[in-house]
Amino acid sequence: MNHNKKILIAPSLLAADFSQLENQIKLIEKAGADLLHLDVMDGVFVPNISFGIPIIESVRQKTNLFFDTHLMISDPIKYVEAFKKAGANSLTIHIETCPEPKKIFEEMRELGLKIGLAVNPQTPVDKLFPFLDQIDTALVMSVEPGFGGQIFQPHSISKIIKLRSQIEIRQLQVQIQVDGGVNLSNSNTCIKAGATQIVAGSAIFGDPNPTQIISNMRK
Ligand code: DX5
Ligand code: ZN
Repeated sequence: MNHNKKILIAPSLLAADFSQLENQIKLIEKAGADLLHLDVMDGVFVPNISFGIPIIESVRQKTNLFFDTHLMISDPIKYVEAFKKAGANSLTIHIETCPEPKKIFEEMRELGLKIGLAVNPQTPVDKLFPFLDQIDTALVMSVEPGFGGQIFQPHSISKIIKLRSQIEIRQLQVQIQVDGGVNLSNSNTCIKAGATQIVAGSAIFGDPNPTQIISNMRK
């Protein structure tokens, strides 16, 4: 049985047509998206470069959606304020880049940003446990970060289960986000395992009927 927590759907802008950003955002807004997932890649932490602060600043003028900003960059602390100014509502950083995130969390909190902490597929989910009382969202990467359109790694499910049980034991309110290769055939398994936020790029933007995909994922 699914838990009865509210499920939020976060389309990843990485899979949008970048020549039509405003239209693409309006489309997923109408389709019922809860958050807009923004994948920032620096070509250092991950072997790809996506988009950054100026794009976020521009699209901020076009929507009121919550900007869920996933920083796949090697030195996130340098840019916290810039992302806030550009209009980010939350920043998710990787534990692999910030093994001691105390300082960056403090800065985010001061600026009123929601805090996310992510683990790569090869990083044990336990690495997040010491920080669960300091964050809003724990992100389980279900593909190697860097590219959209990859295949979901099934071992992510046991990581979500482990995380959910830790959060319940400690009676915390942390959201569990799953990101990478999520589509209609595995989203329900993620939700059953305890995920509350579904990130999906190609499954949503690549479908002729994003409204249906989003509402089916929520079911
Ligand atoms: C991968 C990104 C994901 C990705 C999701 O590095 O963090 O957010 O864009 O795209 P799909 O859903 O196509 O795997
Ligand atoms: Zn992402």
